[in-house]
Amino acid sequence: MPQQEDVFKKLVSHCKEYGFVFPSSEIYDGLGAVYDYGQNGVELKNNIKKYWWDSMTLLNENVVGIDSAIFMHPTIWKASGHVDAFNDPLIDNKDSKKRYRADVLIEEQMAKYEDKINKEVEKAAKRFGEAFDEQKFRETNPRVLENKEKMEELHIRFAQALNDGNLEELRQIILDYEIVCPVSGTRNWTEVRQFNLMFSTEMGSTADGAMKIYLRPETAQGIFVNFLNVQKSGRMKIPFGIAQIGKAFRNEIVARQFVFRMREFEQMEMQFFVRPGEELKWFAQWKETRMNWHKALGLGDKKYRFHDHDKLAHYANAATDIEYEMPFGFKEVEGIHSRTDFDLSSHEKYSGKKIQYFDPEQNQSYVPYVIETSIGVDRMFLSILAGSFCEERLDDGETRVVLKIPPMLAPVKLAVLPLVKKDGLPEKAREIMDALKFEFHCQYDEKDSIGKRYRRQDAVGTPYCVTVDHDTLTDNCVTIRHRDTMQQERVPVADLDKIIADKVSMKNLLKQILK
Ligand code: GAP
Repeated sequence: MPQQEDVFKKLVSHCKEYGFVFPSSEIYDGLGAVYDYGQNGVELKNNIKKYWWDSMTLLNENVVGIDSAIFMHPTIWKASGHVDAFNDPLIDNKDSKKRYRADVLIEEQMAKYEDKINKEVEKAAKRFGEAFDEQKFRETNPRVLENKEKMEELHIRFAQALNDGNLEELRQIILDYEIVCPVSGTRNWTEVRQFNLMFSTEMGSTADGAMKIYLRPETAQGIFVNFLNVQKSGRMKIPFGIAQIGKAFRNEIVARQFVFRMREFEQMEMQFFVRPGEELKWFAQWKETRMNWHKALGLGDKKYRFHDHDKLAHYANAATDIEYEMPFGFKEVEGIHSRTDFDLSSHEKYSGKKIQYFDPEQNQSYVPYVIETSIGVDRMFLSILAGSFCEERLDDGETRVVLKIPPMLAPVKLAVLPLVKKDGLPEKAREIMDALKFEFHCQYDEKDSIGKRYRRQDAVGTPYCVTVDHDTLTDNCVTIRHRDTMQQERVPVADLDKIIADKVSMKNLLKQILK
């Protein structure tokens, strides 16, 4: 089994064992692609949301938040295009009876070529050592060139088929590239069909029957339909943005890879309303700002990349994804789209209400254009855990599992540990914790040896452990242990506040984005 898959499996079981993520309805054998967040998971998730919310609403005077309802008038989804066009192209394997997204099968085939290229490069780098010229190798090695050509050929054909909405061609690509079902290993495929991803339910019960409504597949529409409310009540001037965090629902057919693709998930979306004609300038600016937001977390700049879209959605005139290198390859975490005036114009048409902005500088009214930044909380959560999960072999031969979560996002910031359960140490530890708990999420632990307690805190990513020993009672100093280096230092209790705040403060993290 490839090593990365192994790491991913370990990560998933670690999430369960340490209270980050549980399968939903587990005692009833679970519910497909639905998950619950545990005591540590919810803290991490809340910290991610706070980081995003503050970066939007504190750092930008012209971005304000809302919280719109999940249930919305059904015509909204007609206007947005979701009723007619929010489909996935599906294909079934007749032998395994498994269903797949045709586009995902083809993307995985492209990733295989990329893998082959990277393996060649890795092998050559090992063989040539210091003298290795990677760029030259990529430009001249026949096997690399052959795979590159195959990948590009496939890419062009795939992009064309997607753009044309040509389902037959998607199937033909799968046949021509001899893509097999991962379960049965055969090429016995059905036709490709479109499948709408929205969940529906019914509201009310009247003599005429109940109204069919949808669970929102994105939070963005709640922002569009409140554009005028916010603009007028907040006296907002263009350019300005509206941010929202909330649940979204999609009946994903290929729901796998843990919390990466779920049927109920959470989005953090911001719609930035601009003058028509200025959208591409703002698109470029938000691309940069959003990438800085990710990189400020310090998981490693090389873990991120942009992926520009081949197929633009019917409403977009530019779109890119921010991808993170998950254990299963580079994957989309965030989408940035230039959505033109599609949504507002469409809501004007369907609602019959004028949705325009009077621009005092231009002395004219127009339907604003929109740049959207849309990130999944759960994918962000997964990227942080994947980037933080380490198994380290220690000098004494033991291994420790540690989550090197960026300290500002860690579920618990500080563990307070009395060395022994007697001699007044627990009381002193409680006193320290009582002073710090207003600012930091602290945990008190007096059970087991100090080594075992350190391991427990490492496993949930607590950046600091503070040990209270007999000397503390006389010198009022404690030993503080740093999670990543395991180094320990003796510090006065009075300094704890500052030492911890320096590392875990959201303020310092937010400042990094602007650097
Ligand atoms: N309003 C635009 C929109 O919804 P999207 O690219 O479909 O765009 C935005 O979704 C983000 O939502 C994605 O980048 C991803 O992080 C997250 N997302 C989408 N579908 C998801 C799913 N099934 N499970 C978890 N996260 C999902």
